[in-house]
Amino acid sequence: MNVLVTGGAGYIGSHTCVALLEAGHSVVIADNFSNSRRDTVERIERLGGRSVKLVEGDVADERTVRELFEQNAIDGVIHFAGLKSVPESVAQPLRYYRNNVFSTVLLAAACIEHGVGKFVFSSSATVYGSNDVPYREEMELRTPTSPYGSTKLASERILTETAASAPGFAVTLLRYFNPIGAHPSGLIGDDPNGVPNNLMPYITRVARGKLEKLKVYGNDYPTPDGTGVRDYIHVCDLAEGHIAALEHARPGTQVYNLGSGSGVSVLELVEAFERVNGVKIPYEFAPRRPGDLPAYYADASRAERELGWSAKRGVDEMVRDAWNFERNL
Ligand code: NAD
Ligand code: UFG
Repeated sequence: MNVLVTGGAGYIGSHTCVALLEAGHSVVIADNFSNSRRDTVERIERLGGRSVKLVEGDVADERTVRELFEQNAIDGVIHFAGLKSVPESVAQPLRYYRNNVFSTVLLAAACIEHGVGKFVFSSSATVYGSNDVPYREEMELRTPTSPYGSTKLASERILTETAASAPGFAVTLLRYFNPIGAHPSGLIGDDPNGVPNNLMPYITRVARGKLEKLKVYGNDYPTPDGTGVRDYIHVCDLAEGHIAALEHARPGTQVYNLGSGSGVSVLELVEAFERVNGVKIPYEFAPRRPGDLPAYYADASRAERELGWSAKRGVDEMVRDAWNFERNL
């Protein structure tokens, strides 16, 4: 397949491009580098052993999308391009809707117009809102607590309704849990701009001495050690989930949780990082972060049953590879 990967230079997109090349697919990356670096594309080619086509541009721009589809024979789309900071989305909701939702509309319309039958979308566990755990795909979704979450829910609906109206169009909605870690080569990984919002890149920067200490948001949650519990998944496992999704695409809309299926607390992740890497992570407890949920993790059985995919790499591998990437920067 010739796969259009929007946001292919980003954290999850870059790992997925490597997995696509390794699986024998061709890749067209469309990225505006708003949150990634150009040299990632060369690294993808090095790791994947083949070249990719790069189109630098904004996939929320109609002309860019039109040209992408006119100039490339595309068989499937994986749409990663999006802005992903929850607090930033509260401050700039329209920027988030434009970037994340408008891009979905344009890409879906171009697929229909050009007869491109496969569309894989990067959704998030945030669409479950506050629900019982583990999260199952058939649960009724709750109103997201941030504009970022709303852009994911809106994109899911737009794609579901489009698939219902267009015979043969295969939409796969992938709801990611918490991707961490990096490619074992240390060449690609998560390197956010500014001070990280997310736990793992914050930990690696503390370990490196770039930040002084970790703030653990909340130690009074109803969890075994009082800190927040999440379902961390190695980014290489997540990448492989996309290959399985593309290869099992079928008309209509399929929805899959991509998670490990088990919960890990903030303190457990810190402990694993210290033990595996032999580095101390100074931390202090801080108040709960507004909008955070106490604990959630995936029921990942549907992906295993229908896609033959499950997460293989454990927490020790995640923290080892995250640290290896940080030290390589
Ligand atoms: P990322 O920021 O590393 O990657 C996104 C990429 O898209 C970047 O390379 C960026 O430059 C590009 N981009 C953004 N807007 C664009 C536009 N309009 N046109 C072209 N390129 C554009 O983020 P990521 O962690 O790799 O996330 C990828 C996707 O997965 C996003 O849609 C995100 O919302 C979703 N997601 C991420 C997580 C997570 O924890 N990382 C969890 C759930 C869902
Ligand atoms: N945490 C800290 N200190 C930090 C950062 C995070 O203690 O400096 C804690 C959080 O309170 C939470 C856990 O670490 O308990 C994980 O936090 P992240 O920010 O890494 O991840 P979230 O689960 O909050 O966010 C993720 C995605 C979002 C998505 C959200 C809801 O990053 O895109 O899940 O599904 F919207």
